[in-house]
Amino acid sequence: MSMVHAATEPRNGAALVTLSEVSKHYPARGSGTPPLVALRPTTAEFRHGEIVAIVGPSGCGKSTLLSLVSGLERASSGTLMIDGDPLVQPYKDAGIVFQKDLLLPWRNALDNVLLQAEVRGISRRSIAARALDLLAMVGLKGFERHYPHELSGGMRQRVSICRALLHEPRLLLMDEPFAALDAITRDQLALDFQHIVKADTRTVVFITHNMDEAVFIGDRVMVMTARPGRIADVIDINIPRPRTIHSRDIPEFTAYTGRVRDIFMEHGVLKDHT
Ligand SMILES: Nc1ncnc2c1ncn2[C@@H]1O[C@H](COP(=O)(O)OP(=O)(O)O)[C@@H](O)[C@H]1O
Ligand SMILES: [Mg+2]
Repeated sequence: MSMVHAATEPRNGAALVTLSEVSKHYPARGSGTPPLVALRPTTAEFRHGEIVAIVGPSGCGKSTLLSLVSGLERASSGTLMIDGDPLVQPYKDAGIVFQKDLLLPWRNALDNVLLQAEVRGISRRSIAARALDLLAMVGLKGFERHYPHELSGGMRQRVSICRALLHEPRLLLMDEPFAALDAITRDQLALDFQHIVKADTRTVVFITHNMDEAVFIGDRVMVMTARPGRIADVIDINIPRPRTIHSRDIPEFTAYTGRVRDIFMEHGVLKDHT
């Protein structure tokens, strides 16, 4: 199995997920207070096989957007389509990774990965080999029987990613998956990530509050405004894959992160003291 997908691999431009004016608000918590707007009407699409990074400040509605796309929450207005059908229940063909690894402490790494099979009624026997392959691919060969407390934060997050990929979902949703890790581990996981997901077959929505990480990870970067947010701009990132440690040093990279910063400044997310 090739772990590297070629930079030249064709990407199918058709949309897997389409959001049309999708918004979310939560009911007011007292009389006289307005409902809380978590996401302003947002229009976007996530295409087959692409990695979309969504970057925005804390509280702007990133997690809300992701939970709407997963189908775990319903939009307050607008339409959300997956594969041509309106999404009315949790989308089955998705895998989700959160900032917290959410591993069960009483299960070893392998059994945590296999949890995905259990909840889906897939037999352990048919899928154990894939679980072991995934763990090996993320560098955890020899740690299959280790328990979460015996693993580092980075290793635990790798196990979470394996669990999210076990059933080969079409859509991988990641909500600040590396945000709880130290800076070096975070950079390493970003490097490994593009090999792990084999982005040619899977659509990935990767949420981050880190501009650098968004540009490094994404085929496209969607930039969100401050709370209540919406997608203000979308940038195509034309940096070849696999991206490497040195990708961050090339002028194009700095130009892209500068572009994200400018959009944040235009929308008042970032401002200088004058
Ligand atoms: N279940 C909820 N009930 C009420 N308000 C919520 C709920 N979930 C999120 N919010 C509010 O919606 C806004 C956006 O939250 P969130 O999507 O978590 O932001 P982000 O992930 O970008 O930090 C925040 O102001 C948050 O307080
Ligand atoms: Mg969040």
